[in-house]
Amino acid sequence: MPDLGFEMRNVAPDEFVQWVTVESRAYGNRLADDPEMLRPHFDLERSIAVFDQGKIIGGAHSHRVEMSIPGESAMIAGVANIAVQPTHRRRGVMTRMMRHQIHDIHERGEPLAALFARESVIYRRFGYGIGSLHERYVIERQYNAYARTHDTPGRIVFVDPAEIAEKLPEVFRRNTMDRPGVFQRPPHQWERDSQAPEHKQGGPGGLFYAAYEDGGVVDGYVTYRTSGTTLVVNELMATTREACAALWRFCFDTDLMDRTEAVRRPLDDPLPWMLADPRRLERSTRDGLWVRLVDVPASLEQRRYMQHDRLVLEVRDDLCPWNDGRFELEGSPEGATCRATGSSPDLVIDVSDFASAYLGSVSFTTLSQAGLVDERTPGSLLRADGMFAVRHQPWTPCNF
Ligand SMILES: CC(C)(COP(=O)(O)OP(=O)(O)OC[C@H]1O[C@@H](n2cnc3c(N)ncnc32)[C@H](O)[C@@H]1OP(=O)(O)O)[C@@H](O)C(=O)NCCC(=O)NCCS
Repeated sequence: MPDLGFEMRNVAPDEFVQWVTVESRAYGNRLADDPEMLRPHFDLERSIAVFDQGKIIGGAHSHRVEMSIPGESAMIAGVANIAVQPTHRRRGVMTRMMRHQIHDIHERGEPLAALFARESVIYRRFGYGIGSLHERYVIERQYNAYARTHDTPGRIVFVDPAEIAEKLPEVFRRNTMDRPGVFQRPPHQWERDSQAPEHKQGGPGGLFYAAYEDGGVVDGYVTYRTSGTTLVVNELMATTREACAALWRFCFDTDLMDRTEAVRRPLDDPLPWMLADPRRLERSTRDGLWVRLVDVPASLEQRRYMQHDRLVLEVRDDLCPWNDGRFELEGSPEGATCRATGSSPDLVIDVSDFASAYLGSVSFTTLSQAGLVDERTPGSLLRADGMFAVRHQPWTPCNF
């Protein structure tokens, strides 16, 4: 990497506004709000700024967030605010920041990092792999019948936005607790959503919250808005199959709407299987979260495994020399140990692809068919699939 001659360091408190202004520029925005309102959301000790002749031209940030991993939850580095202003693009500034940041996260003892990518072509080179995927659904009104009737004894009620922080987080938690890739929305975010200015404005475009209640217990909710004659489901969380059937039915049957659209559904959502004419559900898939195994053995020891087994994995990692080697993993539903070894490997894998298999987004067999895993011991792909299997597909319904 050529030395660009640019200084790189943390942001000083009096440089904060300049730093967020550069980020806005990179995204093609002007800072609308008072930038000081953003300050509490940043830990400047975890900030990176790159300077050209004393002026900030690029930046990045990370903060500790809790993410679910198979069988556990982990404190990870949530990477965000990666930006290089247009005057300095494609001169290696981001590359320098990303390398520096991964080393910094490693020194902090955080074994995993994650980010949301604006462009899916960028982050693989830094060892990130697709951690979760999601689907967008569209279905026309005339095709939304269910294959069988559902007994839904509860009722749908509207929830006042002022009450969502009290009524809905528990449903979100119960619906997602056994699923990798989820960030629990923190209380201040529920509070902020409940105070959103759009709840006060008149006319179309506002968000509605509707819940399914049975016996006085909220078992599910949907957050939606309308756009012309489309009802757009932002979030639908159901902890029982009755709540699931009732909430989708509620969306499908709302008057004046010709179609329902849903963003960010999990890949193993039951809805396609509930429909009488499933081909009419238009589905498109895209990457959600990107994950980085910053410390391979520590991250492998953090998750749980579906089946007890032992494997030697050879990991290729150009950026993090401490990961580039062979590791013996012994894992089970109770826990795992992982240590460096000189034994010959069962599987050879790049750290970015390993991140996808780690969270459960893809099997080792599929990676092998894509030419991304080398099976050195016959049968080890299948054994790895059995070990790393997850009950629910990774899903990231909301950002950190
Ligand atoms: C994306 C961004 C951070 C890249 O910064 P940069 O300093 O220009 O990146 P680099 O020069 O270090 O590029 C590293 C590599 O990534 C590639 N790359 C960078 N941005 C890319 C993009 N948007 N699309 C495709 N490839 C990209 C470069 O071509 C380069 O490839 P190479 O190593 O094969 O030559 C910067 O353009 C930006 O801030 N864009 C707007 C905001 C944004 O999208 N941020 C990312 C949010 S996830």
